[in-house]
Amino acid sequence: MLAPLVVVKMLWAAALVLAYIVLCVAVYWQYRRRHSPVMVAPKTWLIAYATQTGYAHHLAQHTAKTLRLAGLSVQELPLAQLTAAMLQQAEQLLLIVSTYGNGEAPDSARLFVRRVMAQALPLTGLRYGLLALGSRHYPQFCAFGGELDAWLQTQGAQAYFDYIRVDNSDKQAISLWGNAIAECTHCQNVMPDAWQQSAFSSWIIQSQELLNPNSLGAPVYYLQLTPVNPSHETWQAGDLIQLHINDQQPLRDYSIANVTSDHIALLVRLQYRPEGGYGLGSGLLTQSALGTEVALRIRHNPSFHIANNQHRPLILIANGIGLAGVLAHLRQRVLQASARPCWLIFGERQRAVDYFCQQELEQYQSQGLLARVDVVFSRDGESLRYVQDVLMAQASELQQWLTQDAAIYVCGSLQGMAQAVDDALKDIIGQQQLDMLSQEGRYQRDVY
Ligand SMILES: Cc1cc2nc3c(=O)[nH]c(=O)nc-3n(C[C@H](O)[C@H](O)[C@H](O)COP(=O)(O)OP(=O)(O)OC[C@H]3O[C@@H](n4cnc5c(N)ncnc54)[C@H](O)[C@@H]3O)c2cc1C
Ligand SMILES: Cc1cc2nc3c(=O)[nH]c(=O)nc-3n(C[C@H](O)[C@H](O)[C@H](O)COP(=O)(O)O)c2cc1C
Repeated sequence: MLAPLVVVKMLWAAALVLAYIVLCVAVYWQYRRRHSPVMVAPKTWLIAYATQTGYAHHLAQHTAKTLRLAGLSVQELPLAQLTAAMLQQAEQLLLIVSTYGNGEAPDSARLFVRRVMAQALPLTGLRYGLLALGSRHYPQFCAFGGELDAWLQTQGAQAYFDYIRVDNSDKQAISLWGNAIAECTHCQNVMPDAWQQSAFSSWIIQSQELLNPNSLGAPVYYLQLTPVNPSHETWQAGDLIQLHINDQQPLRDYSIANVTSDHIALLVRLQYRPEGGYGLGSGLLTQSALGTEVALRIRHNPSFHIANNQHRPLILIANGIGLAGVLAHLRQRVLQASARPCWLIFGERQRAVDYFCQQELEQYQSQGLLARVDVVFSRDGESLRYVQDVLMAQASELQQWLTQDAAIYVCGSLQGMAQAVDDALKDIIGQQQLDMLSQEGRYQRDVY
């Protein structure tokens, strides 16, 4: 048995050692804070955005420009580049984020969610304002914005105002954002009415070719439209058009399938409304008489551009009308002097009727632009039915293409295809490598 005095002494010694360790950790922490590189200058307004189709970026640019004109120090960056250390240094943060998929973060912010939002960070020194972009058309309205707001609150950050939700670029909500940032930044000239996206112009429907007569699926048309007035619009592979139906209806997006600027080519699947009649957008485009004028604008879609992948081999994966986005990239490659090869993986229902643009694709194959083509049909009784089945069956080929620096582009349906492709890629190369590809811009998606 130890004497009570010895026990007390031992307890004291232990307490002293513990206090010493705590002191050392605190000193080290202070040292780390002081000597870590300054990533956010004091009093700077950080403006971070997460976007899929560019609207959040557009608003971030206007917000940043407005604050800079008022003489404030501003640092604007994609959410993907915002690190935990920067969040801890920052004092004032404005966030503009959209929601994508099924209530998720846009692709470019997936890593931020997994790496930063998975942590507990003391952010009591941070104040922030948040604009969440979304659409009430989706059940999880502005879900990612809400998640980000809740996470910031949990870390002790203080909101300047309740986060603002925007339904499909609703002007009133954008105006609220203008007022809110004017108040928290003490900026006078915030005029969100002037932050309009580009105007609509009139285009004439020149042709509507039915691509899949007798298909089990809904009709798909190849459309060509020319501008009423000489157009100065420019676009590149990956961009979309936004079709204006009327002021009450949200705009409809369609992937542009070509890159020459004399006309716009689209692949449109005619939709039927449950209550009867055609879908408003697809009906207008495919069932109107030739010569009909429609109002549209180009929506630049950086998350599906070629960007740094211009000199890389491409693995192009599409189902159905997703072929539009893939065609645009192939057609862009044709114009490129020394194009690296592409691998097309395309899925539809029946080879006899649903192999859209077969002639053109076979031509690219014979020219060597398409080094490999895997076309699969889900209703022909073959063993490989879907594009994700091709990936699994060709796992080592995929690895080889990736070793040769290939980039992956996925275009088509979110339900059923995009998630299954994502899962197959994770199975084959692992989450970490997929994250890395995403970070390097080598995994791009235009899925809806
Ligand atoms: C990025 C992107 C690219 C696309 N590319 C193509 C393509 O290349 N080819 C193609 O055929 N289709 C494409 N679509 C689908 C297309 O935008 C339309 O959703 C589709 O044509 C059905 O619209 P509709 O007006 O014909 O049908 P409707 O039956 O009139 O619309 C379906 C329902 O959805 C609502 N709705 C439709 N679109 C939207 C929207 N954008 N926001 C909010 N609510 C909406 C309508 O109010 C209605 O309730 C794409 C969609 C996205 C998001
Ligand atoms: C495929 C797809 C999925 C979407 N999913 C959601 C969603 O789950 N919840 C939501 O509120 N908005 C959703 N939206 C709407 C977008 O958030 C909205 O269009 C936003 O303005 C896009 O901003 P961005 O261009 O910055 O990405 C979705 C849009 C698309 C194209």
